Amino acid sequence: MNEEKIKEKIVLALDVEKIEEAKKLVDELSDFVGTFKVGLQLYCGYGLEIVNYILKKNSNFFLDVKLHDIPNTVQKASENIVLRGANFFNVHTTGGIDMMKAARYGADTMADKLGKCRPVILGVTMLTSISQEVLNSEFEIDKNVSNYAIKLAHLAKKAGLDGVVASALEVKRIKNELGDDFKVLCPGIRPKWSLTDDQKRVSTPNSAIKDGADYIVLGRAVTKDKNPKEAMKKIYNEIKEGEICYQH
Ligand code: C5P
Repeated sequence: MNEEKIKEKIVLALDVEKIEEAKKLVDELSDFVGTFKVGLQLYCGYGLEIVNYILKKNSNFFLDVKLHDIPNTVQKASENIVLRGANFFNVHTTGGIDMMKAARYGADTMADKLGKCRPVILGVTMLTSISQEVLNSEFEIDKNVSNYAIKLAHLAKKAGLDGVVASALEVKRIKNELGDDFKVLCPGIRPKWSLTDDQKRVSTPNSAIKDGADYIVLGRAVTKDKNPKEAMKKIYNEIKEGEICYQH
């Protein structure tokens, strides 16, 4: 795989406290990262300042705010997300088909109005923090957590979303059941030389890509490394060389 193709697949999670740290990561890594992901922490703290900084670097920007509300509110929020210039955003699939369709409609409408491409809209299936036990006993949903995530992915496709956020361990099954064009973005990515932190179901960058991930989210494995640029270069080399699969 060439470097341009690798870059397209790499999404960096800017989960840092201070805007200066986020800007430094954007400056250092924009040659290696296709898309910078701004989550709730940074967005609630600094809003458009970081978004505009990313866009000025001509990098893609993913607004990871996982919308979940009534369809009308989600539609209007999606319109504004397009207006802000996001290339990706996401919604909770558990908001239901009407809510997901409203996200798509809002994004389509605003993109048409501005004459630009609609962002990629991804559905969050099951948060990786929801365990089998929580699903069964708190939510009283008597299903296997992985099968339930796949069922939600089917709903996302039915609603017209472009893909889902899912563990790399589910990519093959999602691609088999929903087709190759249905995008999968995988968090929980850890090279074998990095700490797993609080992530439980992890994959290496290379094995996630081999299994069919369209995008991989790199977070602490790079941002907490003492030399983020070197960590990124190592990951590029491992992907290029097809490092041996490693999974927990
Ligand atoms: O640092 P780390 O690689 O664990 O970061 C993973 C990123 O992916 C975080 O921004 C986290 O919010 C996000 N994410 C996740 N699991 C999901 C959905 C999103 O870890 N199921």
